[in-house]
Amino acid sequence: MNPLELARARPQAAHTVTFDGRPVEALPGQTVAAALWAAGVTAWRSTRGTGRPRGVFCGIGVCFDCLVTVNGRADQRACLVPVRPGDVIRTQRGTGRDDD
Ligand code: FES
Repeated sequence: MNPLELARARPQAAHTVTFDGRPVEALPGQTVAAALWAAGVTAWRSTRGTGRPRGVFCGIGVCFDCLVTVNGRADQRACLVPVRPGDVIRTQRGTGRDDD
């Protein structure tokens, strides 16, 4: 594909996921973080000690600040995980497990 073709590229049809029970539109190829940002959500985790909000910090999978629960699996890095149709995304509190 040449650069001119890329400039004319259009995203494929959006699909729906949920974030804390609310529907969110996502585009194929987006990460969970990108889909949440596009929906105006900037925080999806709270820290263990003080419960402070967290979202993307590095955006490249290094800092682990963006941990989120996807389809019941805690500790998913939202900046790396591709969003898939029907994903159930939840705010992660503490470790995201019942023992915190
Ligand atoms: S924002 Fe740093 S790992 Fe995701």
